[in-house]
Amino acid sequence: MRLGVNVDHIATLRQARLEAFPDPVEAAKECIAGGADGIVCHLREDRRHINDRDLKRLRQLPTRLDMEMAATDEMLKIALKIKPDMVTLVPEKRREVTTEGGLHLTSKLKKTIDKLQDKGIDVSLFIDPDLKQVEEAAVLGARFIEIHTGRYSRRLGDREIRKIGTAVQKARLIGLRINAGHGIDYNNIGPILKIPGIEELNIGFSIIVRAVFVGIRQAVEEMREAIR
Ligand code: PXP
Repeated sequence: MRLGVNVDHIATLRQARLEAFPDPVEAAKECIAGGADGIVCHLREDRRHINDRDLKRLRQLPTRLDMEMAATDEMLKIALKIKPDMVTLVPEKRREVTTEGGLHLTSKLKKTIDKLQDKGIDVSLFIDPDLKQVEEAAVLGARFIEIHTGRYSRRLGDREIRKIGTAVQKARLIGLRINAGHGIDYNNIGPILKIPGIEELNIGFSIIVRAVFVGIRQAVEEMREAIR
């Protein structure tokens, strides 16, 4: 199973102070050094974290790039120019804190999917573990889906993980390839790993939060040393 690390949260930290650092590209290099199989970033319409320059620079790294985006004309144009390895289409609401739910798939998405796939860019549709949405993803001709694990990560329990398992099983049967992500952390990852057929997990927040806590002591020690 591949690990894609989402570096949006590094850019969020940068934007909180409107500074030039921390740099999500430098963070991405560290992720790769740590064993990430690819980098994920979400270019939002309002550019609240990752910006166009970040995206360009991330593309130059020697790793897989999965660009999350809304299916708008503006984003389609950017994706066709940048040519990430994969585009994950996500729903986007201006005022949400993070991507709240999966896409509601309709035939309107077909044009975007076709244009990207025609240029050799894999398209993944971020959907809830809902059998109807899985079927619709296949009808639309996407090669991948990403199952939204956010609900499972908040509620845990057998019911939510069973829903994911059933959706993955259905997707495999109809020939889709499957990623999963959102809210996955060091404690809740176990049951997801037991589901056969998931190719890639996309994880951001829990890794960045963990990085703060494994790094904060050293950061203080270095400042203490500088003061001495
Ligand atoms: N997958 C998708 C489609 C997302 O939108 C996000 C959040 O940006 C993630 C995965 C990663 O979620 P988290 O940051 O909670 O690990």
